[in-house]
Amino acid sequence: MGKLIADEPRMFYITGLHNAHAMETQAIQLLTRQVERLENYPELEARLRAHLEESKAQRTRLEEVLQTLDEQHSALKEAVLGLGGNIAALAHTAASDEIIKNTLANYMFEHFEIAAYKSLIAMSEFIGHPAGAAAAQASLREEEAMAAWIDERIGTTTTIFLERVSAGETADH
Ligand SMILES: [Fe+2]
Repeated sequence: MGKLIADEPRMFYITGLHNAHAMETQAIQLLTRQVERLENYPELEARLRAHLEESKAQRTRLEEVLQTLDEQHSALKEAVLGLGGNIAALAHTAASDEIIKNTLANYMFEHFEIAAYKSLIAMSEFIGHPAGAAAAQASLREEEAMAAWIDERIGTTTTIFLERVSAGETADH
């Protein structure tokens, strides 16, 4: 029983790492869908493409952390986490204000990721796993930079959208 209690924090840490891995898979899917559709927002498209590559590297980083814990990443485990449904609802490809909805959703998603990495940092420090803490710190900095970039661009993106609407140009993506 004592052993079980001692292993529980480690178990939650590993669960947290798997959840973050599933989260990055969702990020990659969301970003891929968005950059494929974007045509009229080149600056936004370039930043999303850069973050797509960052997200792939973040997911690899999590796989490496799991390997140092002798945890093989399992796709099956990820499927059971039930994260997919919620985040898939963030895709707004049919909306006439698609670019606005995606901007708001991306802002929300980045902050979810920030919270996830902050929690992983606390867990890895509690467990005493510096490699995991360093990996989560690196990803956290990238998510914060992305969130700050979106934050700065919310007004501009909205204005460009309305300008294009007023001019009768394609504005939604
Ligand atoms: Fe990410």
